[in-house]
Amino acid sequence: MDIRLLKPSDIPLIQHANLENLPENYFLKYYLYHALSWPQLSYVAVDAARPAKTPYDYPKIVGYVLAKMEEEPTDGVQHGHITSLSVMRTHRRLGIAEKLMRQSQQAMVETFGAQYVSLHVRVSNQAAIHLYRDTLGFKNEKTENKYYADGEDAYCMKLDLSFIREQIQEAEVDAGSSEKGAEKEGGDKEGGSEGVDEGEAVGDVGRDPNTPKTKKKTTAEKGGDKQVKVRVGRALGVGELVERDESKH
Ligand SMILES: CC(C)(COP(=O)(O)OP(=O)(O)OC[C@H]1O[C@@H](n2cnc3c(N)ncnc32)[C@H](O)[C@@H]1OP(=O)(O)O)[C@@H](O)C(=O)NCCC(=O)NCCS
Repeated sequence: MDIRLLKPSDIPLIQHANLENLPENYFLKYYLYHALSWPQLSYVAVDAARPAKTPYDYPKIVGYVLAKMEEEPTDGVQHGHITSLSVMRTHRRLGIAEKLMRQSQQAMVETFGAQYVSLHVRVSNQAAIHLYRDTLGFKNEKTENKYYADGEDAYCMKLDLSFIREQIQEAEVDAGSSEKGAEKEGGDKEGGSEGVDEGEAVGDVGRDPNTPKTKKKTTAEKGGDKQVKVRVGRALGVGELVERDESKH
């Protein structure tokens, strides 16, 4: 199973899954609004066991989470909101919804600095309540009477995301200390302490004419290609995602 970011071309399939699984449905443009406004926050689960045979085949989407940032938070606190979540019946109880939710929550913090995430759930929806409360740790804030069009009440639930901020900070501290370690090791190997000028003297002024000119070592001679550390993946808010190139299979 691949969990990857939602692409605008997935939208008709997500709408199909939504119609199959939930009574709350939306116009296509509402999905597109999410995909264009907060492209980092919505994810799909694609059945990788059924890869597309031609570039014209649709991926088999078996679950999705549609999420956004609250545009005008009444409490003034930057936070995310889960608009819709569902998994096809054939693929339930495999941990897909949990994974989709965790990916979205991570991106809310990394990309938008969300403090918490909120959602509504029908008071009768035991499966979803278990997922949110027991698996993910959401708390019930209040009950909104007759929230749904058919008159059912909703629990308004929230999850504090400070644990994700702490994990990110810890990872940054770890990455920082291992970078420093690598720099120190590199400096020692070159046989010099910090501040030593590695460059050649410019011109021949002051040079002992009996000393042969030394050729500057190339990077390859010093021990391989020069490697530069770059930040990718989670730090950029896209998650550790590897998109499958279906055309190769
Ligand atoms: C709710 C829903 C999204 C869960 O999807 P899922 O992929 O099956 O969920 P997961 O496999 O990730 O389950 C994670 C946890 O959720 C809870 N859970 C999921 N389905 C459950 C069920 N039928 N009964 C009780 N608990 C359930 C469990 O705590 C489960 O952990 P466990 O398997 O270790 O016991 C799915 O049932 C669904 O699409 N329902 C219809 C749409 C819907 O209600 N969406 C939510 C709207 S707010």
